[in-house]
Amino acid sequence: MKRGATRREFLCGLSVVGAAACLSQSEESTQASASSSGLERRRFGKTDMQVAILGFGGAEIGYEQAEAATVDKLLGAALDGGLNVVDTAECYRESEVLIGNAIAHRRKEFFLFTKCGHTSEPPKQGPDWSKQGVLQSIERSLKRLKTDVIDLVQLHSCSLAELQKGECIEGLELARKQGKTRYIGYSGDSLAAKWAIESGRFDSLQTSINIADQECLELTLPLARAKGMGVIAKRPIANAAWRYDEQPSNDYHVEYWKRLSELKYDFASGERRNDPGPDGAAGVAMRFTATQPGVSVLIVGTTKPTRWAQNSELLRAGALPREQVEAIRARWKAVARPEWVGQT
Ligand SMILES: NC(=O)c1ccc[n+]([C@@H]2O[C@H](COP(=O)([O-])OP(=O)(O)OC[C@H]3O[C@@H](n4cnc5c(N)ncnc54)[C@H](OP(=O)(O)O)[C@@H]3O)[C@@H](O)[C@H]2O)c1
Repeated sequence: MKRGATRREFLCGLSVVGAAACLSQSEESTQASASSSGLERRRFGKTDMQVAILGFGGAEIGYEQAEAATVDKLLGAALDGGLNVVDTAECYRESEVLIGNAIAHRRKEFFLFTKCGHTSEPPKQGPDWSKQGVLQSIERSLKRLKTDVIDLVQLHSCSLAELQKGECIEGLELARKQGKTRYIGYSGDSLAAKWAIESGRFDSLQTSINIADQECLELTLPLARAKGMGVIAKRPIANAAWRYDEQPSNDYHVEYWKRLSELKYDFASGERRNDPGPDGAAGVAMRFTATQPGVSVLIVGTTKPTRWAQNSELLRAGALPREQVEAIRARWKAVARPEWVGQT
């Protein structure tokens, strides 16, 4: 698929560096509360934000070039249903513009997260991790999102080397000092994410956490939790890659499709793939991610106006039973190859 390829091309330009217990009585559950919609809310690290466990991931609407009317409907209905985290990025094509146009007038009802470090605007395209580049990226996001202040701006998966160089972090810190963003974070995986956590300079981590991407569960999530960071699970439903009988034409979904074909989870194979309930593939996948200690919010991507309500209903089923979490972990440990690192 053309648009998927575009997304893959973008991700290939990013750095891919380096190679559970149940939630039931954990620290997170004592910090959790239910919103009026009945959807669980969790404290977002040490910040002042209480976030609904199901957020919205803005990549799909950008890369799939969703219609403005569809995004209006999708985000309007989700906000009505209890959504309070919207995540996007500077380079998800028109995602920021679509979000700004659809819900800027309801800005007080949600926490707005974006990412910085790239522009897709000609003539200057691609990454820019200089201090000035980061600041310009944030200015552009403020305009496109039609807001005076963003709640969280994250470095959009710069490499470990860029993090160590430090200019991009200085740019982000300056933006916070100038009041353009309230909090700052790192979005990325593997050793770069580990370095970002250990640096102590970020309020949050956004990283891939799902049934087909479990490197973070030992490498970074416990560290982020110990540091009191907010944790955003990206790709939290594993791109729903079990949907495809054959290798998907959207190459962004191929890696997880291949992994799932080897993992052969019972709930993501055969007829059970299509079970729309909380014990079907979508329900188990999201509940597995939500059950990991330290996770604050799952930002599932979608272009479908009814999806947020459907997924929030699945998450209302609550934590996955301990035995099921352990079975998924055991399967991963038995099958995962060393190169199955966190997917950017
Ligand atoms: N480097 C980075 O910082 C980075 C990288 C990747 C992602 N992200 C962030 O994470 C967000 C989520 O990642 P993602 O969109 O790549 O992956 P994802 O949320 O794991 O998967 C999204 C896909 O799952 C499908 N889906 C959702 N709910 C479903 C259900 N109940 N049943 C079947 N299919 C379902 C959606 O299709 P439908 O349209 O049919 O609902 C969509 O194609 C992104 O939007 C972005 O904000 C950040």
